[in-house]
Amino acid sequence: MGVIDRYAELLPVTDKTPRITLGEGSTPLVHLDGISRMLEIELWAKLEGCNPSGSFKDRGMVMAVAKALEDGAKALVCASTGNTSASAAAYAAAAQVPCFVLLPAGKVALGKLAQALMYGAKVIAVRGNFDRALEMAREAAEREGFAIVNSVNPYRLWGQRSGAWEICEALGRAPDWHAIPVGNAGNISAYWAGYKQYKELGKIDKLPRMMGFQAVGAAPLVTGQPCPNPETIATAIRIGNPVSAHLAKEAVAQSSGEFNSVTDEEILAAQYILSSKGGVFAEPASCAPLAGLIKLKKEGRLPRGITAVMILTGNGLKDPDTAMSQVGRPVEIGDSFDELMEVMKG
Ligand code: F0G
Repeated sequence: MGVIDRYAELLPVTDKTPRITLGEGSTPLVHLDGISRMLEIELWAKLEGCNPSGSFKDRGMVMAVAKALEDGAKALVCASTGNTSASAAAYAAAAQVPCFVLLPAGKVALGKLAQALMYGAKVIAVRGNFDRALEMAREAAEREGFAIVNSVNPYRLWGQRSGAWEICEALGRAPDWHAIPVGNAGNISAYWAGYKQYKELGKIDKLPRMMGFQAVGAAPLVTGQPCPNPETIATAIRIGNPVSAHLAKEAVAQSSGEFNSVTDEEILAAQYILSSKGGVFAEPASCAPLAGLIKLKKEGRLPRGITAVMILTGNGLKDPDTAMSQVGRPVEIGDSFDELMEVMKG
C-alpha cells in the first residue's frame, strides 16, 4: 500500500484525489547493532533508499503529483540537486504528464541523472547553483501555470510526514533524537509536523529533539546566514539558501534540538562505517547525521543510552563515483586457482 492509501485519513486528500502510487513508503527501520555499541546508544536507521526512486522524495512526490493531477496541471516542474528530479520524473512518467527538471550543471550524482533521463523527463542543466535553478523553476511555474513540485509545494511536506508516523508505529513511541540531513530544509520540517500531529492525536506522548546536520561548505542554518557559494561532496545538500529555513528553525527551537555541521571528510568516513559496519549503503548526504553523531560522541555531547533514529534519505547506488573514489579497486587475477588461493590467503 502506498502513502496515500495508507494514510488517507491523516492527509489532505479528497474523493477526487487520484490514488496513485509506485509503492512508496513503508520503508524498513533497522537497528544498527554494531554502530549502536560503538556510540553507546540505540541507533535505528530509516532506509529511505528503499523507496521506488531510491530516496525519501517519493513520499511527498506522490502527494504533490496526485494533487497536481486533481487540479488538472498540464506539466510538472522542479529544480533539484538530483533526487527530487528523479522522483518527479518517475511519478510524471507513471501519470503520463510532462515534466521539466532543472539541475545545477555538473553537480548531480550520476545515478540521479540517469534516472531523470530514463523516466523521460525534459532535463535541463543550468549553469548556476541549485538556489538559482529553483528561482527559475518557480518563475516558469508561475508564468506557464505548471505545478511546481519542489518542497515549496505544501503537499510535498504533507506526504513526507508519513516517515515520522511510520517511525512512531515501528518503535511504539517517538525516538529521543531524530537525526536528519538538511538541505532545502523541507524534510526536517515535515518530520517535525508529523511528530506533532501524532502527539496531538494522542498516538505518542513525547516529541523527539530534532537534530539537523549540514555539510560545513553548505551550512546556512548553522552559520545563520545564506551561503552564496555552497560546496560539498554531498551534492544532494549543496544548498545555500534553504526555502524552508523558517520552518526548520522553528522545528529545532521548539524541540530543543540543534543544527550542526560536518566536514566532507567526516561524511565520507561515516559513509564507509555505515556500509562496512552496518551493511547499509547510503549516499553521502544521508551520512551527515551519522558523521554528526560520531562528532558529538567525541565531544562528549551524545547522551548514553538514548534512542536515536537517523534518516538515510537516499540510496548509496545513486552516487557510484563518490563511492568508488573512496574505496580500492578489486584485486584482479588470472583464471588460475592457485592465484585465487594466493589472494585469499594473502
Ligand atoms: N538527503 C538527500 C539524499 C537529498 O536528496 C536531500 C535533498 C536532502 C537530504 C535534504 O532534504 O532538502 O528536505 O532538507 N534533496 C533535494 C533534491 C534538494 O533536489 O533532491 P531537504
